[in-house]
Amino acid sequence: MNLQRTWIILGTLALLLLVCWSCLKEVNEPLSGVIAEHGMVSSAHPAATKVGLDILKQGGNAFDAAIAVQFALAVVYPSAGNIGGGGFLVFRQTDGTIGSLDFREKAPLKSHRDMYLDESGAVIRDLSIKGHLAAGVPGSVNGMFRIHEKLGSLPMEDLITPAIQLARNGVILTEREAQRLNHQKTDFIQINHHTPSLVRDQPWVVGDTIFHPELAATLIRIRDQGEDGFYKGVTAQMIVDEMEAGNGIITKEDLANYQSTWRDAVVGNYKSFRVIGMPPPSSGGVALLQLLKGIESYDIKSWGFNSKKTVHIMTELERRVYADRATYLGDPDFFEVPIETLVSDNYLSERFADISLNTKTPSESIKNDLLGMVESLETTHFSIVDTEGNAAAITTTINGSFGSKVMVKGAGFLLNNEMDDFSAKPGVPNMFGLVGGEANAIEPGKRMLSSMTPTILEKDGRLFMVVGTPGGSTIITSVFQTILNVIEHGMTMQEAVNARKFHHQWLPDDIKFEPEAFDSVTINELEQMGHTLVPIGNIGRMDAIRVLENGWLEGAADNTRGDNTALGY
Ligand code: GLY
Repeated sequence: MNLQRTWIILGTLALLLLVCWSCLKEVNEPLSGVIAEHGMVSSAHPAATKVGLDILKQGGNAFDAAIAVQFALAVVYPSAGNIGGGGFLVFRQTDGTIGSLDFREKAPLKSHRDMYLDESGAVIRDLSIKGHLAAGVPGSVNGMFRIHEKLGSLPMEDLITPAIQLARNGVILTEREAQRLNHQKTDFIQINHHTPSLVRDQPWVVGDTIFHPELAATLIRIRDQGEDGFYKGVTAQMIVDEMEAGNGIITKEDLANYQSTWRDAVVGNYKSFRVIGMPPPSSGGVALLQLLKGIESYDIKSWGFNSKKTVHIMTELERRVYADRATYLGDPDFFEVPIETLVSDNYLSERFADISLNTKTPSESIKNDLLGMVESLETTHFSIVDTEGNAAAITTTINGSFGSKVMVKGAGFLLNNEMDDFSAKPGVPNMFGLVGGEANAIEPGKRMLSSMTPTILEKDGRLFMVVGTPGGSTIITSVFQTILNVIEHGMTMQEAVNARKFHHQWLPDDIKFEPEAFDSVTINELEQMGHTLVPIGNIGRMDAIRVLENGWLEGAADNTRGDNTALGY
């Protein structure tokens, strides 16, 4: 009897140990993204990621795949994927050659500085956000052709065809996509003088198939006629007719004149890592470098992830960097941007000299000459690495969710509302609370300032990370945190992407945070230091790739905040 009881007790103990061991193993096991040897695509939508992967498997390089993903996203992810918007590419070829392409929208020739002000000089809020007047001249199609010319290897036709097939054969809606479309229905109906294909009588539900025949026809014109299939002929006429129907100002001349611009990447070091970022008209590269250089001398590794000290110091850096962004950054073709100075060690040590480790500096006491900027929480980013080690980081946008909500009649695509990224009036915040000044004032042909931060990191001269995210003004700080999460806090790429985030942008003077980012003790401690904390919804929706020690790739897509998907082979 006693022996039997002893065996039962021992058996139970062994079982308990086994259960505890598996639990502990699960808790301690790092969460990895998708691991693959040859190539990786990480984007906001599973269908677009698959298109990119197929191109890589067919022997296309990272740039071919990037072009195919851009066109596919325009079909399957119309809230941000686009041919009616613009964006930025940061690239690194396998031989170490780096650079960037600016295919950001431009202000139409008929635009002018005060176009969003009423007679009393007050900003008419919705004019730069909804409808025809909100649209800048789209750059995405021109950008894809410039990328192809310089870096592509497969025929352009092969890169557009998958998007045409998706548009013709239909796209199965995810839960999130169905909700997004339903949410915008009223605006789509009010803003358009025709019924856009994104609207139907009954609500969309997950599993529905949505067809885009007019968009397919536009993509076929681009496939057959090259960029003229968009900027001239039938499509251009449709855009101009749309403008006339809705009091917009984009003309045939605007479209025919649009050109993307190759620019030198902004480059700097963080410890032993080389950071390759997007120069103005994006503020992303400059601001990210300022933040990384600023944090370098603090031992945040030992302070810990999202600890009081780490969050405080990051916030104080962000406060100062966003004040600089508002003052000095704009389109370098129109405004002299002091890039070298802004990222120089001398300037930054002076800029950050008054940071206290114990108390916050109120934003109103941060010196700036003016105020400035603007943008939205939509946008999308994708990261691609091919088997040769070429890397493409593209962030692309129509600004707000579904842009201006104007669908070009007959052409089946949405126009951006990127004009809201200009400063409509110095000091008046835009829809996302950012303010702007002279550097970012509206001028015909000028590009509006952006926060998009497509970024590539090298370690010891080799590719290490490709990273970026949507999120308007939070893009820069999300990329900043994600890089630190890997380098300083030892996270895998996937853990760094998933990690809950926070954001400070000088004005308004508060720390926005995802509810699970801080525990209540940290919140209290930060408040005692003088910070105001405001919980908000999601911050960031990253798509990133890390090169592992053995040369394999870890693809991380944010499937906690979106439908983002990484696939490799
Ligand atoms: N429209 C968002 C950005 O360019 O930053």
